[in-house]
Amino acid sequence: MITEIVKLSEATESAERYGTAFTLSPEDDAKIKSCAEIIKRGGLVVFPTETVYGLGGDATSPTAASKIYEAKGRPSDNPLIIHVSCPEEAEKYAYTTELYYRLAEAFMPGPLTVILDAKDSVPSKTRGGLSTVAVRCPTDAVARRLIELSGVPIAAPSANLSGSPSPTRAKHVIDDMLGRVDAIIDGGECEFGLESTIVKINSDDTLTLLRPGKITPTELEKIAPVTVADAVVDKLKEGEVAISPGMKYRHYAPSSPVVLLDGNLDKCLNYIEKTGQNNQAFICYTDEAEAILKRLPSLTLYPIGAREDLFTQAHLLFSILREADTKNHSCIYAHLPKREGIGLALYNRLIRAAAHTIINL
Ligand code: TXA
Ligand code: MG
Repeated sequence: MITEIVKLSEATESAERYGTAFTLSPEDDAKIKSCAEIIKRGGLVVFPTETVYGLGGDATSPTAASKIYEAKGRPSDNPLIIHVSCPEEAEKYAYTTELYYRLAEAFMPGPLTVILDAKDSVPSKTRGGLSTVAVRCPTDAVARRLIELSGVPIAAPSANLSGSPSPTRAKHVIDDMLGRVDAIIDGGECEFGLESTIVKINSDDTLTLLRPGKITPTELEKIAPVTVADAVVDKLKEGEVAISPGMKYRHYAPSSPVVLLDGNLDKCLNYIEKTGQNNQAFICYTDEAEAILKRLPSLTLYPIGAREDLFTQAHLLFSILREADTKNHSCIYAHLPKREGIGLALYNRLIRAAAHTIINL
């Protein structure tokens, strides 16, 4: 398959396109329109969102859903999020509730996905055979315009090959998806860099957090009581059924082993030094880099941002994991993040990358 790369103008790329006030240039709008035609014809288009790039197809078409699973190499029991251009559009595809609208009022458009009971208008294939459906209204103007012009909701998982980190730049998408999709919209770097927060609305009007993201449990608590699903921070137990199918698959895993270190810098460096292996790497805080290099000059460093700057860390994590993956490191070390605020999202992605290998120092 020939993949068309659709480059948007620098103005759109660098502009604050994450808000309802942003207007696309007529040229960019025309490009998005031709991509919407591909979606309407049942084809696949990768598009940027404020979280990560999505691999999109018509959510109302079982054939398009099958093509998405195939392009991504994803098991078809792992359901797709349907992306809508405004919160009310969910009405046609899901049984919305008063709590859904309170969440929408607070966080949509934005990086929040809500699990609702599905209507028959969403094919079973799109929802991986579940009776529920995941709904998300992105804030990225390019994503919303693509949905609007397609005239259908867009089913989109992250646009990576199954098992590799989600793509946050067009280059990542090209590496994984060239020849597997009809078009890739290059919209520059995704703003946040980790996938959306996912919550399930329970019948008693409480929320279960299935995947942490930019919207934190503390923010959600202002709307309704929240329980964090065990699998967000722990391994699924033997035989346990995942409440979100995605929880049971290994994720974000580079081919080198990733090990999380829980202890101060001095203890981390002692540990790394003691292992004595060649070609090791450390995803460190930017403010530590100089001191580390003085002590362990042969260690490859991937500075991820200042210790307290969780936004930069979220923005860079997947990009760093991808880069480190090309270097054949014998081991990639990283600090174990705190589980607070956005730290919970970093923690959740890193324990998966590390297949839950945590060393308490
Ligand atoms: O930020 C995001 O959410 C990105 C962008 C493209 O919007 N999308 C994304 O999709 O991360 P994906 O498919 O890579 O992750 C969605 C997760 C999967 O783990 C899936 O199992 C879960 O959501 N999911 C989807 N539908 C579900 C449902 N009905 N019930 C429970 N979990 C569901
Ligand atoms: Mg994904």
